[in-house]
Amino acid sequence: MALKRYPGFIDVHVHLREPGATHKEDFYTGSRAAAKGGVTMMLDMPNNPTPTITIERLDEKIALAKKAIVDIGFHFGTNGKNIDQLLPASKRKEVYGLKLYCNHTTGEMLIEDLALLEKVYAAWESPKPILLHAEGIQLAGAIGLATAYGRRVHMCHISLAIEVELVRRAKEKGFPITAGVCPHHLYLLGEARETLRGFAIMKPPLGTKEDQEALWVGLKDGIIDVVETDHAPHTREEKSGEKPAFGVPGLETMVPLMMKAVKDGRITEERMMDALYTRPKKIFNIPDQPDTYVEIDLDATTKVGEGGYGSKADWSPFEGWELPGKVMTVVIRGKRVL
Ligand code: NCD
Ligand code: ZN
Ligand code: ZN
Repeated sequence: MALKRYPGFIDVHVHLREPGATHKEDFYTGSRAAAKGGVTMMLDMPNNPTPTITIERLDEKIALAKKAIVDIGFHFGTNGKNIDQLLPASKRKEVYGLKLYCNHTTGEMLIEDLALLEKVYAAWESPKPILLHAEGIQLAGAIGLATAYGRRVHMCHISLAIEVELVRRAKEKGFPITAGVCPHHLYLLGEARETLRGFAIMKPPLGTKEDQEALWVGLKDGIIDVVETDHAPHTREEKSGEKPAFGVPGLETMVPLMMKAVKDGRITEERMMDALYTRPKKIFNIPDQPDTYVEIDLDATTKVGEGGYGSKADWSPFEGWELPGKVMTVVIRGKRVL
């Protein structure tokens, strides 16, 4: 056994489904999945059935999340009509960013009206980032608004070669923009839909080999700052029907998949730590977790799905994959949680 100690990994993009969709996941099961995957801090998204767009809903979530076994922070939401809630929300220590949906996905927070978007950018007077679900041309528009209003923006789950290029150019101009990529876009292609069917359906969709190569290059070079899971659990039933729900779980596989990337020579171990710990912490100003660490057995492997899942979703698009390293211990503030 070759145990190596790492700081607790950070995931800045998860959907833990509580309240409102706890048949998919709740704060306990989602945090159990996180611990199994070596994640000690994660940031939960606001697209619940009743979205987190008021301080009242935020407080409800904070109370419900007390049952989690890892640390959780929150992104506040907006539908463009809760402008009076944005300033108070931005001042809360539990809030790490503002989430904006510019494309159709799970939930009902889509804003397509430029006048509403403008109001949101104008009102979010905070150094905390605006996170965007913005695909393709929507991403270009988001860069425009962000620069016009001087806001920091984080582009979630970028998936296209052209998006990597836009982020690269915006960074070269010195704009305060960051980006994340999901393990499923790094490892799976659109063809996966032929075998995995609904279990390979998510937003943004799986792409082409060319897009995937650009994502790897962007991650290696640091143009893409962070790896984020977009952990989006849905039940097997919801993924099997005619119209599968969008999203895949990812908390349990992110770290082993990135250890595979290191082993395969795709990225260095330094870049892995930068993308899973240092930059997420810096971008979202995440406080230290004292006496917190993860121990990974570098001689062992993780067979995805073997021994069951921590997530209520109870499946993975990577089921059966044999990945290097096995998370053995997770300690948060001196307390062993795995
Ligand atoms: C996410 C979900 O299910 O909440 N789904 C997805 O396909 N990624 C929402 C999102 O991040 O767009
Ligand atoms: Zn999204
Ligand atoms: Zn998401």
